Amino acid sequence: MSEHKTSYREAVRAHLHSTLEFSDLPYLGKKSGKVRDSYQLDNDRLLFVVTDRLSAFDRVLTTVPFKGQVLNLTSAWWFSITSHIIANHLLAVVDPCASIVSKCTPFPVEFVVRDYMTGSTSTSLWTHYKAGERIYCGNVLPDGLKKNDKLEHPIVTPTTKDAVHDRPITPEDIVKEGLMSESQWEYAKNAALELFAYGRNEAKKRNLILVDTKYEMGIGNDGTIMLIDEVHTPDSSRFWQADSYEQRHAEGLEPESFDKEFIRLWFNRVCDPYQDEVLPKAPDHLVVELALRYIEAYERITGKEFQFPDKQMLSISNHDRLRANLAKVGL
Ligand SMILES: Nc1ncnc2c1ncn2[C@@H]1O[C@H](COP(=O)(O)OP(=O)(O)O)[C@@H](O)[C@H]1O
Ligand SMILES: [Mg+2]
Repeated sequence: MSEHKTSYREAVRAHLHSTLEFSDLPYLGKKSGKVRDSYQLDNDRLLFVVTDRLSAFDRVLTTVPFKGQVLNLTSAWWFSITSHIIANHLLAVVDPCASIVSKCTPFPVEFVVRDYMTGSTSTSLWTHYKAGERIYCGNVLPDGLKKNDKLEHPIVTPTTKDAVHDRPITPEDIVKEGLMSESQWEYAKNAALELFAYGRNEAKKRNLILVDTKYEMGIGNDGTIMLIDEVHTPDSSRFWQADSYEQRHAEGLEPESFDKEFIRLWFNRVCDPYQDEVLPKAPDHLVVELALRYIEAYERITGKEFQFPDKQMLSISNHDRLRANLAKVGL
């Protein structure tokens, strides 16, 4: 990873103990996902607060300074440049880590698009291919592929959005199980592939490979199918460094990435993150490193400089800033 400006490291250190773990806003209908809190503003609009929570092993591991801002603003940037492909839920960014969005009924399907044979979890392509499967979510895969090889073209490998564990599913079963109609699936699949092609091209301009990603879509109150949740963020997508990929791959090395694996490895070493009721506190230096990677990802993906809160805002808590910014837009 490239060296970060010392000032970034200092700013992150100064924010280690003022992260946004839970929002606490006076609106009805609060729902908390692993990372986002949402509130129902009215029939058509939700307020989305992207917190600094880091989730893995199906639980929250720690908070990471500025992670919410990185995710909220990275998504907002992509939403603004992809609306010619598909309508999206973003109405307004009202704080670095909060947005007002159109309320949708999400399809219970995650639209995963992959351009490389990689991954290590139970829903990853490589895990299944390695075990001998040659048809995955309806896609036929050729023999002879190695880990991290590029696929001939991007493929859509949908999963269900289950409460416990997402499950890979075929388009036929999506329709058969009544999760989506045939025409909704066709529309969403094509949008996912177009979004991916656009994202891959945009990433390439900044020397990044968009390896794989996950989209969510839903139906708005007026019946429009929209892109929702987050788009091409470091949480929903895998990015590799483009200029070192070929050589490292030829040498059998893993590609360079904005990898978050080190924090998972630390938890795996010191506890049982699936079983233990209480987790140990992640060491500060690892959390700082992680925050710097998220900020670097924001800058690399969007090509924009990350804006730290100004001096005036530094002295107030995230909660107060959020409330002040919401008041500015009459909320
Ligand atoms: N515009 C929207 N309308 C309704 N629900 C949405 C919208 N955008 C995202 N969501 C849902 O809100 C939740 C976002 O919170 P998150 O922390 O990402 O949850 P999760 O733990 O399910 O990943 C997700 O369940 C997502 O499907
Ligand atoms: Mg999510």
